[in-house]
Amino acid sequence: METVLVTGGAGFIGSHLVERLVAEGFAVRVLDDLSSGRVEHLAAVRGRIEFLEGDIRDGDDVRRAVAGCTRVFHLAAVVSVQKTVEDPLGSAAVNEMGSLSLLEAARAAGVRRVVFASSSAVYGDDPRLPKREDHAVRPRSPYAVQKLAAEHYLSVYEGLFGLSTASLRFFNVFGPRQDPSSPYSGVISIFLTRALADEAPLIYGDGGQTRDFIYVADVVEALLRASRSTEVGVFNVGTGREVDILTLWREIAALTGCGRSPRHLPPRPGDIRRSVAAIDEAAGRLGFVPQVPFEEGLSRTLAWYRRAPAGS
Ligand SMILES: NC(=O)c1ccc[n+]([C@@H]2O[C@H](COP(=O)([O-])OP(=O)(O)OC[C@H]3O[C@@H](n4cnc5c(N)ncnc54)[C@H](O)[C@@H]3O)[C@@H](O)[C@H]2O)c1
Repeated sequence: METVLVTGGAGFIGSHLVERLVAEGFAVRVLDDLSSGRVEHLAAVRGRIEFLEGDIRDGDDVRRAVAGCTRVFHLAAVVSVQKTVEDPLGSAAVNEMGSLSLLEAARAAGVRRVVFASSSAVYGDDPRLPKREDHAVRPRSPYAVQKLAAEHYLSVYEGLFGLSTASLRFFNVFGPRQDPSSPYSGVISIFLTRALADEAPLIYGDGGQTRDFIYVADVVEALLRASRSTEVGVFNVGTGREVDILTLWREIAALTGCGRSPRHLPPRPGDIRRSVAAIDEAAGRLGFVPQVPFEEGLSRTLAWYRRAPAGS
């Protein structure tokens, strides 16, 4: 049985990936410090995975985690853009140095393939749409700089040491288990939670900002395909469909029966106006085409939020 490592496997996306890998017959090891993840997210596979509570900043933890693994999915990160603004050094220690430490351990352990969870944030405010992998990157936050630095380290390890790597630039991921408790978490988790509590959503600016929302099961599929492929480089993981925030609220209001009108707040400095992925690289080179329509993803997510009390 092939052993694979998922860093950040107790998180929102990581726990869905772990469930899928177990279903596919892999022996799965998780390295997570539970700073934003929760062991409860892994309840469905408890007893069938190896869970290491540890830190990607700790060389010993990382070496222990990669030992005997053929493939690594690297998702552990400080994921809040705001936290990286408040603590650029602490977050760089995780997002940048932690990634480097993982690559170093992977190389030494003879890992075959590393797939990294990067972000569309690396594109920053480049106005060209859709965002293509060969567009210039204009990171506008420590988070984006740190993701970009890790992408570069992956490609350097490929060139220098022959470690096969791919970086997936996730657009806006949504689905069950996304934590709505921070104002910087996914807008869909926040809107759904407010709609279910019959509260008006808070919208920064006019609500004309657009995002490319991709359902978590599709992101898991992209991760799997990237790990099986030998294609190297960076790949967008989005749907190619642009949805504005007001339309998103209208859909959620209709699904939940919430009659509240949005409350508008001043625009957030640095907020990207429009974002949508070009998805032909991932389709052509990884064979990845998203399968879950936006409305279907919303319904599945809503069903989960109805069952789970907010924050659980
Ligand atoms: N959710 C999105 O829309 C989105 C978009 C782009 C990129 N990403 C990236 O995808 C990955 C997963 O994000 P998520 O949304 O599931 O967030 P998440 O916070 O649920 O998952 C991150 C996981 O990493 C763990 N972690 C954090 N620091 C760690 C450390 N020092 N050592 C070990 N584990 C640590 C956390 O406990 C958590 O379980 C992240 O790398 C994130 O940057 C997410």
